[in-house]
Amino acid sequence: MNFTRTLAGDLRKAVNRRRRHGRWKFLRGFFKNPVMVGSVVPSSRILIDKMLEPVDWQTCRLFIEYGPGVGTFTREILDRLHPDARLIAIDTNEDFIAHLKEEIDDPRLIAVHGSAANVEEIVADHGFDMADYVVSGLPFSTLPPGLGDTIGRATANVIAPGGAFLVYQFSPKVRQFLQPHFDRIDSGFEWRNIPPATLFWAWRS
Ligand SMILES: C[S@@+](CC[C@H](N)C(=O)[O-])C[C@H]1O[C@@H](n2cnc3c(N)ncnc32)[C@H](O)[C@@H]1O
Repeated sequence: MNFTRTLAGDLRKAVNRRRRHGRWKFLRGFFKNPVMVGSVVPSSRILIDKMLEPVDWQTCRLFIEYGPGVGTFTREILDRLHPDARLIAIDTNEDFIAHLKEEIDDPRLIAVHGSAANVEEIVADHGFDMADYVVSGLPFSTLPPGLGDTIGRATANVIAPGGAFLVYQFSPKVRQFLQPHFDRIDSGFEWRNIPPATLFWAWRS
C-alpha cells in the first residue's frame, strides 16, 4: 500500500517536472525567436480537445503537425492516433525538434526540422502521397510576407479529399490564407485559452 502510494507520488512528481521543463523550454524558444514562436504559453487542454474533435481517428493514416513547439499537441495527437498511422511534426526551431526526439519515444512520430512551406516535399521524402489532416500552431499573423499564402496553398495540395486543415490562431487574419484553397471553412472560438483563440477547420471535399 505504502509502496504503491510512493510510486504514484514519484510518477506525479516526474510528470510535473517534465511539464515545467517543457514550459521553460517553450518560453526560452519564444525569447530566442518571438516572431516565429508567437506565444509565451503552450496551448490549453480545452483548446486541443476542441480543435481535434472532428478528426476521424479510425481512418486517419497520416497526420501532420506544423509548429509542434515542445509537443503540447503532439502528445495528445499520439494518444488518439491509430497504431498503424504516422504523425509528421515539422518545426523551424531545431531546439524544439531535438526536444521532441528526446522526450517522446513513439515509433509513429516523425519529427522534422524544416518549414511548413515545404510540406509537399517532406511528405514525399517520407514515402507518403497525401495526408488526412494537418494541424497548425503557426503564428500566421507574424509570419514573413507571402509565407502564409504559400503554406495555405501547399497544405491544400497535400490534404486528401475529405481531409481538413485545422488551425488555431490568436488573430482571425488567417482566414485569408485558407479561403482561396479550401472548399468549406468551419470556425469557432475558445476564450478559455491564454490568449483566447479562433479555431478554423478548413475542409477539402
Ligand atoms: C505558438 S508556437 C505553437 C506551439 C504548440 N503547437 C502549442 O500549441 O503550444 C508556434 C511554433 O511554430 C513554429 N514555426 C514558426 N514558423 C514555422 C514554419 N514556417 N514552419 C514550421 N514551424 C514553424 C515555431 O518554431 C513554434 O514552435
